[in-house]
Amino acid sequence: MGKVIAIDGPSGAGKGTIAKLLAKELGFSCLDTGALYRAVALALREKRIEPEDSDDKLKAALTNIDVSFVDGRVLLNGKDVSEEIRTTEIGHYSSVFSARKVVRDFLLGIQRNAAKNADIVAEGRDMTTVVFPDAWKKFYLDASLNERAKRRYLQLKEQGVDITESEAKNDVVERDKRDSSRDIAPLRKAEDAVLIDSSTMTSGEVLEYLLKIIRADH
Ligand code: DC
Repeated sequence: MGKVIAIDGPSGAGKGTIAKLLAKELGFSCLDTGALYRAVALALREKRIEPEDSDDKLKAALTNIDVSFVDGRVLLNGKDVSEEIRTTEIGHYSSVFSARKVVRDFLLGIQRNAAKNADIVAEGRDMTTVVFPDAWKKFYLDASLNERAKRRYLQLKEQGVDITESEAKNDVVERDKRDSSRDIAPLRKAEDAVLIDSSTMTSGEVLEYLLKIIRADH
């Protein structure tokens, strides 16, 4: 098992950007677990699975799904879906389907396998609490709601998504609420995770702060 730096936090907190920068700086691989949930949601929607469908139906649909994260790209049954999964619609369905135990169980092994033979920076909602509870380093990255909504808006705009600022804010609020209130693996700060509020920090400043902590007890 390689070293794991686990980062959790709500939508728009900047986990993706920071995880990539950190991985590059340390020569680790990066694991974007939200992308895996998004790919599963895309696959389930392609199979016409609805959020209210039974566990058995979901389980059956999952047996033919193969998702992986390779060199920063998300592969669904061998096809690169990295761009396709970034819509607000798939963001919504990924949050909805991620509350189902069958979906979380399906992705658990895939996520843990990523750390089998590599040092990784893993980011998501339950990296520090469920997937890698014994991670080498644990962080909880947060920012104010307004700042997260702004970041999400700019990120979606950059990706060419047609969205207003208030729609982006609603999307962040709705997903936060669902991701934090679900019964299984809800988003929460692990007791031993270092909390960073990045509301007034640049990504460069957050990176420096994390590196200082990581290098302090080398
Ligand atoms: O990080 P993201 O916005 O790409 O994640 C999409 C959804 O996937 C998010 O709303 C909740 C779910 N998710 C999760 O439940 N657990 C994770 N470790 C990562 C994401």
